[in-house]
Amino acid sequence: MQHEQVFTYGAPQLKFGAGASDEIGYDLSVTGARTVLVVTDPGVAATGGPQRVADQMAQFGVVATVFDGSHVEPTDESLAAAVAWARENGPFDAFVAVGGGSSIDTAKAINLLTSNDGELMDYVNAPVGGGRAPEHPLKPLIAVPTTTGTGSESTTICVLDVLSQKVKTGISHARLRPTSAVIDPELTLTQPPGVTAAAGMDILCHALESYTARPYTSYERKQPHERVPYCGSNPIADMWSEKALHLLAGAFRRAVRDGDDRAARTDMAMAATFAGMGFGNAGVHVPHANAYPIAGQVKDFRPEGYPQDEPMVPHGMAVALTAPEAFRFTYEAAPERHLRVAQILDRDAPATDEPADQLPSVLVALMRDIGIPAGIGAVGYDESDVPSLVDGTMKQQRLLATAPRPVTEDDVAAILTRSIHLW
Ligand SMILES: NC(=O)c1ccc[n+]([C@@H]2O[C@H](COP(=O)([O-])OP(=O)(O)OC[C@H]3O[C@@H](n4cnc5c(N)ncnc54)[C@H](O)[C@@H]3O)[C@@H](O)[C@H]2O)c1
Repeated sequence: MQHEQVFTYGAPQLKFGAGASDEIGYDLSVTGARTVLVVTDPGVAATGGPQRVADQMAQFGVVATVFDGSHVEPTDESLAAAVAWARENGPFDAFVAVGGGSSIDTAKAINLLTSNDGELMDYVNAPVGGGRAPEHPLKPLIAVPTTTGTGSESTTICVLDVLSQKVKTGISHARLRPTSAVIDPELTLTQPPGVTAAAGMDILCHALESYTARPYTSYERKQPHERVPYCGSNPIADMWSEKALHLLAGAFRRAVRDGDDRAARTDMAMAATFAGMGFGNAGVHVPHANAYPIAGQVKDFRPEGYPQDEPMVPHGMAVALTAPEAFRFTYEAAPERHLRVAQILDRDAPATDEPADQLPSVLVALMRDIGIPAGIGAVGYDESDVPSLVDGTMKQQRLLATAPRPVTEDDVAAILTRSIHLW
């Protein structure tokens, strides 16, 4: 086999800092945009942030309409309804997403399906959907995250639940990447502690998974048309991931404990952005693959800080719940990398008897401190659920292919079983 020698790096334009969201009207006006759709969800709309962003566009002659119907953790139904609304009320010259990953991903779907014909499921990754690639370029999309988590503002993916198949999947194409990301830490101050904790675990796992991902040089050499956004760990993604971990080490517990700690909120926002730039190019693996069925097959768990009308395991929490055991499993593929990240996250952590336990032990200590449930058992799963969760994980071959060692059904079953009670 001829080994890969090429890696790629993509990122949107970026504006970062307190007050950055006040400049969106000006930024849009110079692109010639005159009609803009601001996409958000009801919880974020209630903070007043999206309306403020919409209002300041008027002075630049930009007419903004606010759509606050994004579903928290989008579904095929919610996205189809949002697209139908936008097709009926448009056309729009540009889109601005103000919210967490749920609002940003909803805006990506609206942008895709108002710039291209066909229906949502045509574009959803195969085999769940048709895996169709957009033929036409999309309109400008400015992503303005109000959570510190997903990194969706810099990625090429839109994540959704396909309700009829009880599976979480995505639409993935380079054209989905927002044209610019405006990260204003002031907009993140109102995040409830439960959202800060779950979304923050998403940042942490993005950084850890992309840092421990299979190296890009271990793949077979690709032809130009075969290149995908996720190319495995590489020197540029590593740099972003390491820096994100340093920021998390100093800020994560503080941001959950005191939401008004502006310095901690700013560092969390920077960590989310940096980790997004890392994982958006390197990829993620086992914890994210497990998260899809853990969220998709939800029973009756209703987390604090999230809408209470439907059961859900929020994405970041679903990722976190098997992370300690997943990294115990991947340890042998790259011991030095696992030990290094444990050291960055907590340089004072006592050494464990087995080196493979070091990162799991640092993660469990953090999860306990910030109020993440004590395993998949605490969100309603027991041993009888393991086979159907394994089935769901094994469907995420795109992610499992980025793991640093081969992952069998038995491996996944062992990771899930050990994650029922983490402490
Ligand atoms: N596209 C990607 O690259 C990507 C990556 C990871 C996750 N995701 C997806 O993103 C979604 C999760 O996004 P998230 O974790 O950012 O949270 P979210 O967008 O689902 O929001 C979570 C809750 O927090 C509230 N909220 C958000 N910001 C707030 C603020 N500043 N003040 C008060 N309340 C606020 C929302 O109203 C909601 O109730 C999932 O669907 C997940 O699958 C996408």
